[in-house]
Amino acid sequence: MTVPSRLLPDNAHLDRTAMTVGGVDAATAAAEHGTPLHLYDEAHLRARCRELVAAFSGGAAYASKAFLCRAMARLAYEEGMSVDVASGGEMTVALAGGVPPASLVLHGNNKSVAELTDALRLRLHRVVVDSWDEVTRIRRLVREEKLSAPDALIRVNPAVQVATHAAVSTGQADSKFGFSLASGEAAAAARELDAEPAFRLRGVHVHVGSQLQSLAAIHAGAVSAAAFARSIAAEELSVGGGLGVALTRADRVPSIREWSTAVAEAVAAAGFTGRVSAEPGRSVVATAGVTLYRIGTIKTVPSGRCYVSVDGGLSDNPRPALYGSVYESFLVRSPDAGADPLVADIVGKNCESGDTLVRQARLPRDVAVGDLLCVPVTGGYVHAMSSNYNKLTRPAVVFARSGRSRLVVRRETSADLLAADVFEPAAT
Ligand code: LLP
Repeated sequence: MTVPSRLLPDNAHLDRTAMTVGGVDAATAAAEHGTPLHLYDEAHLRARCRELVAAFSGGAAYASKAFLCRAMARLAYEEGMSVDVASGGEMTVALAGGVPPASLVLHGNNKSVAELTDALRLRLHRVVVDSWDEVTRIRRLVREEKLSAPDALIRVNPAVQVATHAAVSTGQADSKFGFSLASGEAAAAARELDAEPAFRLRGVHVHVGSQLQSLAAIHAGAVSAAAFARSIAAEELSVGGGLGVALTRADRVPSIREWSTAVAEAVAAAGFTGRVSAEPGRSVVATAGVTLYRIGTIKTVPSGRCYVSVDGGLSDNPRPALYGSVYESFLVRSPDAGADPLVADIVGKNCESGDTLVRQARLPRDVAVGDLLCVPVTGGYVHAMSSNYNKLTRPAVVFARSGRSRLVVRRETSADLLAADVFEPAAT
């Protein structure tokens, strides 16, 4: 059985012996750029941005933490999105990609003075205020450094149950993010920001979690945040991101349309009539990208388990090791493993047993060293969370569109591994 098309980029085509993405042959791209390789369907990325902009009339910000390089920031902006940055580093890349400051939203539960200074100086579209210490820092920058008062949203914590991995659940009461609605902290923060000339309070922000496969928590969070937004006569409510994607054929997730409809219902139920915006990351990029690996060793151990090792691993995709994420995989030259497949664990080349990318993958019996393996739905939070563990170099990223490919992040080299390494003889 071949992988269902809903797990592949919109413009991917599989036949019995090959795969194209955005009209580009995967094997050719892998030969040209080396492996591992992140290959994205650029038209898919653009279509998703447009769909999100259409779904949320109050605007959609791309959560750049999901996947960021200058080309991606630029693409989201070109397609009508603003860009959410959660650090000075993300801000630097988005600005370098040509996104104007007036289209940037700054997040973070511990924004530094330097990050806030840049945000105020550049007059970002929104600063999402997350703590009393941040209020103090901004007030000082405005009063003493004479920087301009930011257009601010207050991030609220709605204390809802969130059905996702604990690491990516943020809307529960016990969370480092936001001001509690239940305790009255959010109301106190709104009063403070409203009365304080160092802020222009525009509204409210809520984000309950990520990779959500049900809309229940998003709905509950939006009802609470919208009721609060109404109570403070806010102009704007941002409902954050969180829409999940299917990683395997067993996963079922809501559509963008179902998400925006659920949000609209929640907001209407709470009687909020202001602008409603969203901040999706994963749903823009995840399914647009696949990773191509080259198989290097195949080994069957006495227990009978077969290990197929590829030329990447948890250093380029830590999600299976970190969250237990389950991915599909297939051989590019033979996507259908047939009726009698070889069942094998796909492992990486990092030096630990936790380095399993796909458990119990089904591959054709004639799988061989040198074959290209594809892992789909790796366009979100994969390149973004990669590391140089074992001093492996990060893969290249290629955008494919209408049969043409363009390199947007080059593969790291040995020189990159030494670039920040300071090596001076110790003074004697
Ligand atoms: N807005 C805020 C304030 C967020 O914290 C996030 C994600 C988003 C928007 C975008 O959420 P999305 O639409 O992508 O679900 N590293 C994890 C994901 C962490 C998500 C953090 N915040 C992973 O690999 O699954």
